[in-house]
Amino acid sequence: MQSYQKLLLENKAWANEKVADDPEYFDRLAQLQTPEFLWIGCSDSRVPANEITGTQPGEIFVHRNVANLVINTDVNLLAVLDYAVNHLKVKHVIVCGHYGCGGIKAALTNHDFKAVLNMWLRNIKDVCRIHSQELASITDGELKTDRLVELNVKEQIFNLAKTSIIQKAWKHEQRPDLHGWVYGLKDGLINPVCEMKAGTRIDDIYTYDDL
Ligand code: CO
Repeated sequence: MQSYQKLLLENKAWANEKVADDPEYFDRLAQLQTPEFLWIGCSDSRVPANEITGTQPGEIFVHRNVANLVINTDVNLLAVLDYAVNHLKVKHVIVCGHYGCGGIKAALTNHDFKAVLNMWLRNIKDVCRIHSQELASITDGELKTDRLVELNVKEQIFNLAKTSIIQKAWKHEQRPDLHGWVYGLKDGLINPVCEMKAGTRIDDIYTYDDL
């Protein structure tokens, strides 16, 4: 059997098990999703949002990309954010990075990863530059990577707050709160590193006055 065929077999077994436990399970989920959370995480296969938070399908709206970046020209991310905030009315947006992130490690090198990856990783190099003083004081490579993982999550939370989507929801509906978390691959635990409550004042230059 090919490896991908095993996925389809496992899917059948899973669906059967769900229905055996709760005959209305899929009918209910098919009708509506009302997730309270938007999760912006890393694409890394070891960080599955539902599994590590003990949540079920229907509970978390998920967007994942390499190194969990919030980039203001990324139409994919912005469409997910717009839909989650304005239509699903999520109460919390979580940016979850993870220690040992390959994307963060790659951005710390001078290696040429060629066109598209260089473009993507450049955003992380900008985070490095903003925090260059602190990072320069860390000599151990692994510790430096892990600190950059935390700083990157903080910057992405800030990037969310810079968007008119978030600012508008804050102004009119006092939600969502923003949470920056880092997941540990070695112990399975999430470290909450920062939080921005709805309505937090950010640098004036990023604030829109006509929302
Ligand atoms: Co990663």
